[in-house]
Amino acid sequence: MAHTDTAEPTRRDFLYIATGTVAAVGAAGLVWPFIDQMNPDASVKALASIEVDLSALEEGQSVTVKWRGNPVFIRHRTAKEIEEARSVPLDELPDQNARNQNIGDDANADDKNRATNEKFLVMVGVCTHLGCVPLGQAGDFGGWFCPCHGSHYDTSGRIRKGPAPENLPVPAYEFLSETNIKIG
Ligand code: FES
Repeated sequence: MAHTDTAEPTRRDFLYIATGTVAAVGAAGLVWPFIDQMNPDASVKALASIEVDLSALEEGQSVTVKWRGNPVFIRHRTAKEIEEARSVPLDELPDQNARNQNIGDDANADDKNRATNEKFLVMVGVCTHLGCVPLGQAGDFGGWFCPCHGSHYDTSGRIRKGPAPENLPVPAYEFLSETNIKIG
């Protein structure tokens, strides 16, 4: 379900937890980066990158943050999701490129090249078909499903079925600590 920006944005416009219960403290911590980003006094640097505290994001939960006008999905994957993503033979993948800005253009789509920290998968949440926002924990491969024209992504965000031509792109990011990530 896509959301739209309004003249008076609320926290809900910017952040939602895809599954499970929301820890209030965690949500408050997580929502801060883009509230800050909305501040007209924010520096150009702040607009270019955001920091997100993932310490309250439990295994099996996802968070969506807004970065440079796009949703970015961050999923704290379960062991099962990691295992599923890592066991897929490359030749079963329609797009065999990692689409990961943090590594070389020619890296393959092995899950290790998609999620260098296997626990946290980070991707721009824009369908590579025509730009809808896919739904999490949905579709035939337990990853993301784009209802616009039926594209199914797996637990590594790789396109597996449907019209989308490419894997969901992984933006430039770095972990500043075990649970603090800087995107952009
Ligand atoms: S926009 Fe996602 S399947 Fe067409």
